[in-house]
Amino acid sequence: MSKFKVGFVGWRGMVGSVLISRMVQENDFKNISSFFYTTSQVGEKCPFSFSDCDKLLDGYNLDELKKMDIILTCQGSDYTKKVYLDLRDSGWNGHWIDAASHLRMENDAIIILDPVNRDLIDSSFKQGIKTWVGGNCTVSLMLLAIHGLVKENLVEWVSSMTYQAASGAGANNMRELLGQMGYLYNSVSDLLHDKNSPILDIDEKVSESFEGKDFPKSYFGEALAGSVIPWIDSDLGNGQSKEEWKGPNETLKILNTNYEPFKVDGLCVRIGTMRCHSQAITIKLKKDLSEENVLQKISNGNDWVKLVPNDRENSIHNLSPTKASGKLDILVGRVRKLNLDNNMFSLFTVGDQLLWGAAEPLRRILSIITK
Ligand code: HSE
Repeated sequence: MSKFKVGFVGWRGMVGSVLISRMVQENDFKNISSFFYTTSQVGEKCPFSFSDCDKLLDGYNLDELKKMDIILTCQGSDYTKKVYLDLRDSGWNGHWIDAASHLRMENDAIIILDPVNRDLIDSSFKQGIKTWVGGNCTVSLMLLAIHGLVKENLVEWVSSMTYQAASGAGANNMRELLGQMGYLYNSVSDLLHDKNSPILDIDEKVSESFEGKDFPKSYFGEALAGSVIPWIDSDLGNGQSKEEWKGPNETLKILNTNYEPFKVDGLCVRIGTMRCHSQAITIKLKKDLSEENVLQKISNGNDWVKLVPNDRENSIHNLSPTKASGKLDILVGRVRKLNLDNNMFSLFTVGDQLLWGAAEPLRRILSIITK
């Protein structure tokens, strides 16, 4: 059987680069014929020796795109808006795999998170669905963390308070975060070197630096280093951010009718970490379960959940963004029965926003389709 022709768009960006490197790691390219598209450097040499094209193809040229069995884009929603409908209208009936959010809530698109919704993916595939979209990173990471409880339909509601990394806002934001850190450090480095300098003098200078006219904030619009930004994505006008809206709505769509639905709500907050999103989750269960039982169910959720014992040492040293970065592990700790009401538990979870939060579900759906 001839191999599927897969066209990649947006492979140079952050999510795209993580995807390509995961695919190389897993030897995925041997199963497909790969073609690389660009929106800005048509005709330049393709940098990958495993590719089936020597030169970069035009990502806006529908005739070129139509030659593919599968298109996988990490280029962003603007690209999807510009190309997707025209390509479908032109009669192209291939699989479209998309990292961007634009098509997520469309009826004929499935939000992919195969460890959780493989049944939905398989039944949709049989029905002829050909549009597969990666979910919001926070939602995917949350569902993977509590998968063991979700699959037994034990969850009544979830409140997720997020601590989201700069990477979710983009590569430029990650650079800006480090620029802000450096700026703040430089503003007080003399005082820091003097062990006897009063800490309140240092603090005052740092506070002034936030207002400095060359303090870098063109992407975040505000300080993230040394601060937090308690709003992510657009303002829906009802006190809720778009990121917060995605929590319940994408969860419902991912779970579909294969699970009993449950309520999700919470606040989404940007913090000064690089690429791992954390969430402090409160769960109300439908049944009275012991802490031990809950721990066991969570750890049986999927192959990536890694339980961290709820003690001081482990929580400090093994349950942080620095420990999840670059890994597929979904760290889950601070699991404790709360004293607030019956059947309520806390947990704290951390996962890599670029891996399970973005690239990995795309890599896996490609492999599901091509196998
Ligand atoms: N919207 C997310 C964030 C990233 O801003 O962190 C993409 O899912």
